[in-house]
Amino acid sequence: MKNTIIKFAVAAILGLSVIAPIATFATHYTSNQEEVESNIETKILQSLNADSMYNNIKTLAKTPRVAGTQQEDAAVAFIKKQFESYGYKTKVQAFTFNDYTAPHTIGLEVERFSVKLDPQALEYSVSGKVTGEVIDAGLGQKKDLEQMDLTGKIALLQRGVISFKEKMLNVAAKGAIGVIFFNNEPGNIMGSLGEPHEGFVPSVLLTQTEGETMISHIKKYPRAVASLKIEGAKSEKNTSHNVIATKKPNVSKKAKETHDIVVISAHHDSVAGAPGANDDASGTAMTLELARVMKAIPTHTEIRFITFGAEELGLLGSTHYVEHLSKGEISRIVANFNLDMVGSKDAGDLILQTVDNKPNLVTELAQEASTDLNGEPTPYNQGENSDHVPFAKAGIPAALFIHNPAEPWYHKPEDSIDKISKEKLKDVSEIVTLAVMNQTRREYYAK
Ligand code: BES
Ligand code: ZN
Repeated sequence: MKNTIIKFAVAAILGLSVIAPIATFATHYTSNQEEVESNIETKILQSLNADSMYNNIKTLAKTPRVAGTQQEDAAVAFIKKQFESYGYKTKVQAFTFNDYTAPHTIGLEVERFSVKLDPQALEYSVSGKVTGEVIDAGLGQKKDLEQMDLTGKIALLQRGVISFKEKMLNVAAKGAIGVIFFNNEPGNIMGSLGEPHEGFVPSVLLTQTEGETMISHIKKYPRAVASLKIEGAKSEKNTSHNVIATKKPNVSKKAKETHDIVVISAHHDSVAGAPGANDDASGTAMTLELARVMKAIPTHTEIRFITFGAEELGLLGSTHYVEHLSKGEISRIVANFNLDMVGSKDAGDLILQTVDNKPNLVTELAQEASTDLNGEPTPYNQGENSDHVPFAKAGIPAALFIHNPAEPWYHKPEDSIDKISKEKLKDVSEIVTLAVMNQTRREYYAK
């Protein structure tokens, strides 16, 4: 009840257009006004500034911020500067990743083969131009290849049982100079060799039908020669960054400090071609705003404000961060609040997502806060598409804050500043701030 009062007091002070509180609340509000206004939590909630979040989103979302590009570097510099302007010591954590450029040209021609082929590239396939006889190498397991000499040949390999990478390395070890993979079920897939490897030879991926037709063809013409051409593919090491600002416990009595850590996170990178105003400049700006308003207040628990790089490439920044925590730190982190896509006008309502679809400390804190602020708990469901995942996998209570359903502009050039709602930013930031304050200042309430 106390925080319900706070919300209305805050709304009244800020002059927000909220529906008038029902009579009982209004009575409480009036009779407790002085107490409410002197309350530090109230002041913090009041000082959350939607304009400031909006402006930071605007700055960040001028361009896409693809991991490893100059635009990501500029975003990192901006975030660091903002944290520092609030008085934080900030750490920039670099990590490397494999950046793959897909080929611009893929060609496959087979002697006397008249069916039109549509060969696809596999991620991490190398460039090159090779010509050789096509040999059916089955599934490409070591045991399938024992009696085969593939020197100078192009191996035809069916998908299944072992990975594309293993098949590739097995036939290359037997002398193959190129590989034609084909699917083992109808439909198209995005094939990947998993990671770059020096032992790779040029390769393509065909559909099941194309592959089976090819098998019949080489049965009919056993010495059929194929030419395989991949141009423009390259794998490079690239570097992305996480930005970390830490607020140490700062209660007056040291004995009151906990050894716990609460992590508030978002990702600052975007996909190519999308300015990523909502995904996820919104979460980044909210993380900054929480850091700003929390700076001055006493907390007995450490809070880390982190923006991750390379989320869009497979949660790389958060995975690197969690993998490089000590066992001690992992056991001290009691909660990860991950903010991703928290400000779109065109998305649905706020939802929490956990990896195991179960409640945890984060969902409980958020539901307590949303009930106090808005009269109902934010619902949760299952989801594993953001940076809360590595935390959850390390056994840390973690949840994603996101609006559901997502806006139609998700990962599109239209994910721009004009689609951002200050009301949504304000709403989510209030819930997260109150939830974090409840966890990191709990004993201030228990008088
Ligand atoms: N913000 C999205 C995740 C998202 C989008 C969750 C819509 C729920 C609804 C995130 O940046 C993203 O795009 N994630 C990837 C997965 C990740 C493992 C690379 C995705 O969802 O494709
Ligand atoms: Zn995202």
